Amino acid sequence: MTFLRPSDPAPRLLFRRIAVAMVATLCLPAWAQVSPKANDLLRQMTLEEKIAQLSQLPGFPIAEFKEQVGVPPEEIARKYGAGSVLWVSDPKEINRWQHIAVDESRLHIPIMFGLDVIHGYHTIFPSPIAMASSWDPKMVESAQAVAAREARAAGIAWTFGPMVDIARDARWGRMVEGAGEDPYLGAAMARAQVLGFQGPQPGAPEHVLACVKHFAGYGAADGGRDYDSSYIPEEEMWNVYLPPFKAAADAGVGSFMSAYMDLNDVPASGNRWLLHDVLRDAWHYQGFVVSDANAVHSLIVHGYARDGRDAAQKAFGAGLNMDMASGTYLKYLAAEVQQGRIAMQQIDDAVLPILEAKIKLGLFEHPFVDESRIEQVLNAPEHARLARQAVTRSVVLLRNEQKLLPLDKTRIKSMAVIGPLADAQLDLLDMWGAIVKPGPTVSILQGIKDKVGDAVRVEFAHGPNIRRDVPSFFENVPMFTIKEQPKQTSEEAHKALDDAVAAAKRSDVAVVVLGEIALMSGEAASRSSLNLSGGQEELLEAVAATGKPVVLVLVNGRPLEISWAAEHVPAILEAWYPGSQGGIGVADVLFGDANPAGHLPVSWPRSTGQLPLYYNHNRTQRPEDAPDFTSRYWDVLTSPLYPFGYGLSYTTFSFDNLKTSKTEAKVGTSLDVSVDVSNTGSRAGDAVVQLYIHQRAGSASRPVRQLKGFQRVNLAPGAKQTIHFTLGPDELRFWSPPRKEWVVEPEQFDVWAGEDSTAKLHAEFRLTP
Ligand code: NOJ
Repeated sequence: MTFLRPSDPAPRLLFRRIAVAMVATLCLPAWAQVSPKANDLLRQMTLEEKIAQLSQLPGFPIAEFKEQVGVPPEEIARKYGAGSVLWVSDPKEINRWQHIAVDESRLHIPIMFGLDVIHGYHTIFPSPIAMASSWDPKMVESAQAVAAREARAAGIAWTFGPMVDIARDARWGRMVEGAGEDPYLGAAMARAQVLGFQGPQPGAPEHVLACVKHFAGYGAADGGRDYDSSYIPEEEMWNVYLPPFKAAADAGVGSFMSAYMDLNDVPASGNRWLLHDVLRDAWHYQGFVVSDANAVHSLIVHGYARDGRDAAQKAFGAGLNMDMASGTYLKYLAAEVQQGRIAMQQIDDAVLPILEAKIKLGLFEHPFVDESRIEQVLNAPEHARLARQAVTRSVVLLRNEQKLLPLDKTRIKSMAVIGPLADAQLDLLDMWGAIVKPGPTVSILQGIKDKVGDAVRVEFAHGPNIRRDVPSFFENVPMFTIKEQPKQTSEEAHKALDDAVAAAKRSDVAVVVLGEIALMSGEAASRSSLNLSGGQEELLEAVAATGKPVVLVLVNGRPLEISWAAEHVPAILEAWYPGSQGGIGVADVLFGDANPAGHLPVSWPRSTGQLPLYYNHNRTQRPEDAPDFTSRYWDVLTSPLYPFGYGLSYTTFSFDNLKTSKTEAKVGTSLDVSVDVSNTGSRAGDAVVQLYIHQRAGSASRPVRQLKGFQRVNLAPGAKQTIHFTLGPDELRFWSPPRKEWVVEPEQFDVWAGEDSTAKLHAEFRLTP
C-alpha cells in the first residue's frame, strides 16, 4: 500500500483539495447539508418534477405565466409539485394549495410558501431603516423572531428578507427597506435579522427560512432611479456593497435573492461573477438562490438574453436555483437538459438545497396550517409590547430647542394635531406592511389622545392631501391595500390649510405630522426631489407663523429636505414608518415616557442635489477641513444637515478618556479601544457609542472615517461607563484595488469615539509588519 506524502507535488494538490473540501463542508450552512431523505427524494424525481422544485409559481393568476407555460400554476403543482408559491398570504388559501401538492402530486413534496414578511406579519414593526436607527441588533433580532412566529403560524415558511442593500442615495425609494449607508452597521443588522427570522438553528420551531436580498448593488441604481443600472467598481463591491450579504451568509442565511438591475452591464440575475465567483467560490455558500420576481424572463427585456431559452440558460448557468414566477425554467430547462446543454448533475445540485430547506423546516411532517392556532399567536400581547418598544427605540430626535420636548401634559390645556399623516394608519406600515395581514394600527393622533386623556383638548386638522405626481403601479396590484390620498381641488387644499392654521391658533402647542404616504417610499418610489411634497412645506410654515410652539413629526422612508424646519421649527422627531404601535410609541416619546436614542443610519442631506451623500467617502486633495475650502458647491455646504450616526436624547452625554491598549500592534493581531461615556444630564437615557477609524496611507486611498464598532448603553443620570471595542484583522482589513486582494496594512491609524460620525475625541495607533 502506498501512502501519499504531503511533499509529493501531485498528492500535495490532492491533500489541498481534500482539506479545502473538508473546510468547505464544515462551512456549509446547516440549511445545505444534504440529508439521506433529500437524496432519496431526488433519486425518485423525474426531470419535470425537479424543474418544478426550481420554480416558484405565482399564487394568483398571471396571464403572462399562463401564456408562457401553457397551463395555470395550480396544474403544475398538481402534476409535478412546486418549489414554492409566491404571495399567498391567506392561511385557507395556503392550505388549499398545500393539499394540491401534498395529496395530489406524485411525490407529495410540500410547497414552501414565500412572502415579503419584511418587518412583521400581523404585528408590524417599524420599517427596517427605523430598526437600523435603533443601533440595537438584539432588539432587531427579537422583532424578526416575532415576525417569523406570526408568519409561520399562518403558513409562511419563507420570508424575502432581510433586505441589506447599501443605500447612499435617498432618491432611491428602497432605502426604507434596508439599514442605510454603512456596511458595518448594515452587516450587524443583516446578522441580527437572519438570526431573528431563522432562530438558533435552521428549522427551529416557529421560525422561517430567510432570504437575503437583493444580490447585489441594487442600491447604487443610476440617479437613484429604481431598477436602473448600477455601475460599481470591484473595490466598492467588496468594501461597501457586499459586507452585509457576507454577514448574512456567515449567519447561516438559507437563501439569497438576486437583484433586478444590471450590475456593470450584466443583469444580476444572470451574473455569474456574483452568483458563482463571489457567492459559491469565494464564500462557499451552499444554500439556494432565487431570482427576483420575473427577473429570469426580464433578462430578455434587459437585452441580455436573446429569448426565453437563452434567459433560462444564462440564469441557471450563472448559478440561480429558483425562478421566481416567470415560468422560464418550467418552459425551457427540460429541453436544455435533454439536448445536453445542461447536465442532470447541475439540475440535481440546484434542487438539493431546496429540498433540504423544506426538510429542515419540518414541512414534510407539518405541511398544513393549524387554523385554530393562528389568532392566539398573532394577538400575543408580548408582540404588541415589543413593537411599541421598537418604536421608542428607533425614533430619532433631530432637534429640540429650549427643550420643547418632552411635552408636559399636566401643563398643556390644548393641542392641535395637524397634517396629512397625523391620522394615518396603513400609511404608518409602509408598502410591505400592507401586503401581509396587518392587525390594527394606532395612528399618531390616536396615540396622543390616549396618552393625554380628557385633561387636554386635542383638535385634529388634516391639512391638504398628499399624492404622488406619477401614481404607483402597486395601487393596481390587488394584494396591496394601501391607496393614495384623494385628489383635491385647489380650493379644497386651501381650505384644509386654513383650517389647520386656525386649529393651531386655538391650541397651546401644534404637533405637525408630515412626510410620505406609504406608496411614496419603497419599490418603484424613487424621487427627483426630497421636498415636503404637496403643500406640506407651506402648511408647516403657516402653522409655525402662528407663533405657537411646533413639534414636527416625520413619517417617511428616507431623509427629506427640511432645511427650513431645521432652523425654524423647535422640535423635530423622525418617526420613519413606525408600524402598528406607531402612534403609541411616538406619544411615549413626545410626552417623555420614553427617552429617544435612535441615531441616523444615513447622512441627512441639506438638498437633493448633494446626493449621493455618505460619510465614508475618501479624503481628497481638498479635504472638507481645509481652512480655505469649506464646500465643493457654491450654493450649499458639502456637509450633511445631520451627519450619519446623529441623534439627540432628553439627556446629554460626554465622552472622554479614549485609549488604545497599545500604540503599536502587529498586523494580524488585535488591540482594545476603550472610552468613557457619562450621562451628564438629569434623566436616564441610552447613549449610542460609536467608534470610527481612518487609515492614513496605504496601497489605496481610504475613507475619511469608517464605523468599526458601536454599543447602545443605558446610563442613569450622573453614571459613567467604560466601553470597550476590539480592533482586529476583521475591522482593519480592506479589499485593495491595486493588490486585488484583502489586506491589512502596516500603517498609522486614527480612531475617534463619540455619538456620531463627526466625533472629535481622537486617539491613534500604528500597525507594524
Ligand atoms: C420584487 C421585489 O424587488 C422583491 O424585493 C420582492 O421580494 C419580490 N418582488 C417578491 O415580492
